[in-house]
This record gives sequence, C-alpha cells and structure tokens, in this order.
Amino acid sequence: AAALPEAYTIRPLQRGDHAAGFLDVLRVLTTVGEVSADAFEARFDEMRQNGKGAVGSHVLVILDGEGRIVGTGALLVERKFIHNLGLVGHIEDIAVAKDQQGKKLGLRIIQALDYLAEHVGCYKTILDCSEANEGFYVKCGFKRAGLEMAHYY
Ligand code: ACO
Repeated sequence: AAALPEAYTIRPLQRGDHAAGFLDVLRVLTTVGEVSADAFEARFDEMRQNGKGAVGSHVLVILDGEGRIVGTGALLVERKFIHNLGLVGHIEDIAVAKDQQGKKLGLRIIQALDYLAEHVGCYKTILDCSEANEGFYVKCGFKRAGLEMAHYY
C-alpha cells in the first residue's frame, strides 16, 4: 500500500476548509464557480444533515506539511431496495493539485474511500471517468463495467 509523503495527512473535510484551498483543488477537475466561505459552510452543513451514519457524502482531503489541501475525493453511500436493501458506494470528485500529481496521492484517496465503502457495508463501489483516467483507476483496482450516460440541464 502507498504511504503518504512525509508530513502529509489525510482526514475528513472540515467546516473551515474553505480557507485551506479545498475549492482550488477541485478546480483541477472542473468548474467550481465563485463560492464564498459562507456558501461553502452552508453546503457542508446540508451534506452533514442529509447523511446519517454510513449513508450520505464522505469527503476526504489530503493536506501537505503546511496545511494546504492538495487532494480530495468523495464517497457517496446510497441506500438500495435491491440486493437485500444493499448499499452502493459512488466515488466522486477525485482531484489532486496539479503540482502534486504523480506522488500517489490520488491512489491514497481511492484506497481510503474504498476501505470506507467496504467497512460501511457497500456491496460494490462504482465511478465514472474519462478514457484518459482509466489507467489510474485500473491501478487502483477498478475495472471497466458498463457505459456512462448523461443528460445535462
Ligand atoms: N492514466 C494512466 N495511469 C495513471 C494516470 C492516468 N491518467 N494517472 C495516474 N496514473 C498512474 C500513476 O502513474 C501511478 O502508477 P504507478 O503506481 O505505476 O506509479 C498510479 O496511477 C497512481 O497515480 P497517483 O500518483 O496516485 O495519481 P495522482 O495523485 O496524480 O492522481 C488523478 C490521479 C486524480 C487522476 C489526478 O491526475 C487528477 O487530479 N487529475 C485531474 C482531475 C481528474 O481527472 N480527476 C478524476 C476524475 S474521475 C472521478 O472523479 C470519479
């Protein structure tokens, strides 16, 4: 298993993480928009209220030795009727700061989310990614299954 670089840490997202650069890390993934600290905190609170125990969003962040957020990823745990009221994990919004890529931080985030999914009782974890990222997820132990469809509004 990959270890984090010296002085780096991994932990759940905290309410004060707007100031630590959380949204800047997500900007390597996609459009974030201008989200104030207040708006970030309101969404953080909503996500916490919507999730009870295992179910809901689990957002992890990696910090460097200076306390800057340099990587993030989320696990969404979904309740099902099928598979004996099973739980499914969805890995979402994986991002590593441009200048920190290639240090196994992405792998470490996926390993942590995967561990969490298995331990809360998910029977599988799925994700969508581009062809360009397939090799990364294969290295993380995932394999191609199905086809993504989308309807944007
Ligand atoms: N294609 C093939 N292999 C890759 C790729 C890739 N695109 N990216 C990394 N790898 C390999 C690495 O070489 C490494 O292999 P090794 O163990 O043989 O040395 C292994 O995968 C682990 O790589 P990490 O160093 O952990 O990767 P990194 O920390 O750079 O994170 C990530 C990868 C998250 C894709 C990063 O490049 C990134 O943030 N990209 C921009 C945002 C993005 O595309 N996020 C994923 C969206 S999909 C989703 O969120 C579900």
